Amino acid sequence: MNIKTDFLVIGGGIAGLSLAKKLAQLSPDDKILLITKDNLEEGSTYYAQGGIASVWSDSDNFEKHIQDTLSAGDGLCNEKVVRKIVTQAPERINELIEIGVQFTRNSEGNYDLCKEGGHSERRILHVNDQTGQNIESKLINSVKKIKNLEIKEHWCAINLFANNYKCYGAYVLDQESGIIYNIAAKATILATGGAGKIYLYTTNPDIASGDGIAMAYRAGATISNMEFYQFHPTCLYHPYAKSFLITEAMRGEGAILKNVRGKEFMQDYHPSKELAPRDIVSRAIDAELKKTGDDHVLLDIASYKTPRLIKSHFPGVYETCLKFNIDITKDPIPVVPAAHYCCGGVMTGINGSTEVKNLYVIGESACTGLHGANRLASNSLLEAVVSAHECAKTLASLSSNLNIKEFKQWEPGHAVPSTEAVIITQNWDEIRRFMWNYVGIVRTNKRLQRAKKRINMLQDEINQYYWDFKIEKNLVELRNLATVAKIIIVSAISRKESRGIHYNLDHPDKSEMSRSTTIKRPW
Ligand code: FAD
Ligand code: SIN
Repeated sequence: MNIKTDFLVIGGGIAGLSLAKKLAQLSPDDKILLITKDNLEEGSTYYAQGGIASVWSDSDNFEKHIQDTLSAGDGLCNEKVVRKIVTQAPERINELIEIGVQFTRNSEGNYDLCKEGGHSERRILHVNDQTGQNIESKLINSVKKIKNLEIKEHWCAINLFANNYKCYGAYVLDQESGIIYNIAAKATILATGGAGKIYLYTTNPDIASGDGIAMAYRAGATISNMEFYQFHPTCLYHPYAKSFLITEAMRGEGAILKNVRGKEFMQDYHPSKELAPRDIVSRAIDAELKKTGDDHVLLDIASYKTPRLIKSHFPGVYETCLKFNIDITKDPIPVVPAAHYCCGGVMTGINGSTEVKNLYVIGESACTGLHGANRLASNSLLEAVVSAHECAKTLASLSSNLNIKEFKQWEPGHAVPSTEAVIITQNWDEIRRFMWNYVGIVRTNKRLQRAKKRINMLQDEINQYYWDFKIEKNLVELRNLATVAKIIIVSAISRKESRGIHYNLDHPDKSEMSRSTTIKRPW
């Protein structure tokens, strides 16, 4: 079945919704179709806790935010991009306030600014510890009234149709009817988020399977800096808690990390202790766990703050932990590090442009050059709104017309339902486990080579059966997961140094000749 639209936006998180909203205003005569593979609100945006970074107080200035971002990025940020994004922050945040985002205020009525690791000033605007939920719901409200925007939920993009570095649209599975649509568009925009599901432990929701990065790679785009997968130090450790983050803002408010015997340890690793950049805190926890043989550490806020402050600042964390019988006003919280954020992605301009004509990528799937080798906390929501703004301006000025003749119809394979769903589950589990064990927080040459052997074998297997089975979301995701895992492994092997979040025991020092990694599909 064929659909024609002017702009196809794939993804309904902060990046996709911000873009759709602005583009609809700038191009009122164009049709926009936005699809999401789950419910509209389901994505990393909804779960963002800490907030969004911007210079806001009198004691702060752009130069400080720029220097903090560059210093976290450990020599691999694009300084021009950093400057452009940081200086646009107040303007973009005012737009969020205009659509109704109610950032938390202090008792004087000013915005309550938090501090997180790597920031030299208090500059995180937040809605208690549920910032993403508030932003996502206000964005959803604001786009629902738009006439030239159509939204389809549970539509999963399978692949792009691209030829000779030109993109014509995408093949999309409607998961309810099972129909695969050929959607032709004069521009296709990937806003598909991160790829945390590649790892066994992650803070990310299930949608984060790297689909956009894998699709762009297959279409010929360059993928950059994928070895820099950021691990968040504090994910709730509980057998029934799936991917629940304990915000870094809690350490910003004075929570202390301890081992299970109650001994503080961050002073042994960094002078900034709990507020060191998150790669250092994650590695410190990893080292403590290896040293002690324990399976988690503790984050203690109860000993340092009153129950009233804890409940008012962290209502989301309080309520969720209580469901698991952990009262954070009395007890320390069991935590472990988990895969959190993809600092690399599809190499793009700040406006999402890629090397593939008519293909744009924004939000966590993109690598604009803002984060370099490590992302500064709360800079990603910011990057998403700035890129969406720049992308909307570029798209609104596009003169190209829709060339539907070039679009090749989807050709189904044998399309029989899989009788062996177990293969798919088995492959998912295998990838996630060896990525955690071999390509995790601390890497070695040997572990990376082992991972490479395994991913080559699994990719062969997946390629053999991909076209034999009926296309379903978990199969589409598995293929993408394997592609992105391979890109991470190859990128990590090629970096013969330790920098930012990439830490290899066989190359513990920084190289003087360091540059961003780039990977392109061989044709
Ligand atoms: P997402 O919000 O993840 O949205 C992706 C969208 O793409 C979804 O709608 C999904 O359905 C859709 N999609 C994916 N694949 C397909 C497909 N094949 N077909 C159709 N649709 C598809 N950053 C901060 O700056 N501050 C924070 O406080 C913060 N806290 C965080 C807390 C948590 C628990 C997590 C997980 C992340 C946090 N981050 C934070 C990071 C930040 O939330 C994300 O980087 C950001 O929200 C990504 O936005 P996005 O629009 O790119 O993607
Ligand atoms: C957090 O709240 O700790 C997450 C912030 C971020 O990932 O930027």
